[in-house]
Amino acid sequence: MCKDERASYKLKPMHKQIAIDGPVASGKTAVGKLLSEKLGWRFLDTGLMYRAITWLALDEKIDVSNHEKLVTIAMNSQIQLIPSDRGDRFIINENDITDSLRNRDVERSVSLISQISGVRAALITKQQEIANSDSIVMVGRDIGIRVLKYADVKVFLTASPDVRAKRRMAQTFEANPKATLQMVKSDLERRDLIDSQNEESPLLPADDSVIINTDKMEIDEVVEAIMKLVVTE
Ligand code: DC
Repeated sequence: MCKDERASYKLKPMHKQIAIDGPVASGKTAVGKLLSEKLGWRFLDTGLMYRAITWLALDEKIDVSNHEKLVTIAMNSQIQLIPSDRGDRFIINENDITDSLRNRDVERSVSLISQISGVRAALITKQQEIANSDSIVMVGRDIGIRVLKYADVKVFLTASPDVRAKRRMAQTFEANPKATLQMVKSDLERRDLIDSQNEESPLLPADDSVIINTDKMEIDEVVEAIMKLVVTE
């Protein structure tokens, strides 16, 4: 890689980066968070940024077809992550929306809003700026192929739809006790389809990603497998 190219991504070599990508409920967030705690690095779940813009769009009653307005709010929003006893709080334009990011309305619209090129560009710039300030574990869909192209370690997590549906079911039970496994699985497959059709950032491992199938692995085992990549690289 040439120096200019690295500079254009605003990356400082002294900060370490781990990129973790994968489909819905592949375990990215749980694994990434634990990994960041073990390493003492910053953690960023980029899905929450797309969710936050979706929350803002719903709050301001902006239609998902109004791309111009959505790009404007993505560019102008102030996103902050503030540590607290209850985990990181996600603040957008001074509203703490942490507890609303996984609600059903956000869940329904986020895949569509995250397809919009200008929204992606605005959020990717913010993600690269965050990575520029500290060593980081960043999780998402396009971290290895686009956001942190020069990450020290890139991992792509996979798991079968059945295993992912069971995991997601356990996570969503509190928010939606009436959800059935079949409902969760269909919703997950619908989102997989939209995410895989994302023209700009299709859900794909980077050429230099290590692919880990987590079907038969506990979170700790996945973290251990990634830790080995960190220490040996
Ligand atoms: O990981 P998640 O379910 O919280 O992600 C929410 C949505 O955001 C999902 O539809 C995919 C999209 N997303 C994306 O397009 N790029 C990312 N880096 C992270 C998430």
